[in-house]
Amino acid sequence: MRGIALCGYMGCGKSTVAKILKDKTAREYIDTDKYIEEHENMPISEIFSKYGENYFRDREHEAIKELSNKDDLILSLGGGAVMYKRNVELLRQNGYLIFFLNPDIKVIKERLKNDSKRPLLQTNDIEQLYNKRLPTYKAVCDYEVYTDKNDSTCLADKISDILNSI
Ligand code: S3P
Repeated sequence: MRGIALCGYMGCGKSTVAKILKDKTAREYIDTDKYIEEHENMPISEIFSKYGENYFRDREHEAIKELSNKDDLILSLGGGAVMYKRNVELLRQNGYLIFFLNPDIKVIKERLKNDSKRPLLQTNDIEQLYNKRLPTYKAVCDYEVYTDKNDSTCLADKISDILNSI
């Protein structure tokens, strides 16, 4: 089975959708951020503050390299992962289908408004960074799933329908 990669902005519901899809499909689910945290033995926020974003991006690339070798996986990617061509190339080479989870920006803003853990939100405006990234998310994905509801089940159902139709 081809692997499935879930991409999209912070707060778009990638981990929640991955968990729902895991139960609907016979696939294992791995969150690349959690994988990195386990390997580095510290939270993402600490990796950023101690070593900087470039260090984190290299760890993220390594994680994707290791994990995308496996078939049958649902990979929940960090929000910035597909901004880097080298990661998208790996996913493509390994036959991954890329889904872009795109709940309405109003939903995303509501979810992220009190976030204090994500390093990039401490220095960027939520909507500005979303708008900057949007064209890349759209360009790299095989399928985009949208909802204006604050409900990740709806996105998981849409992905499941797509998987059943291909
Ligand atoms: C990032 C998103 C985060 C995490 C890191 C960088 C980004 O993951 O990888 O803080 O660049 O958008 P989530 O999308 O799971 O919050």
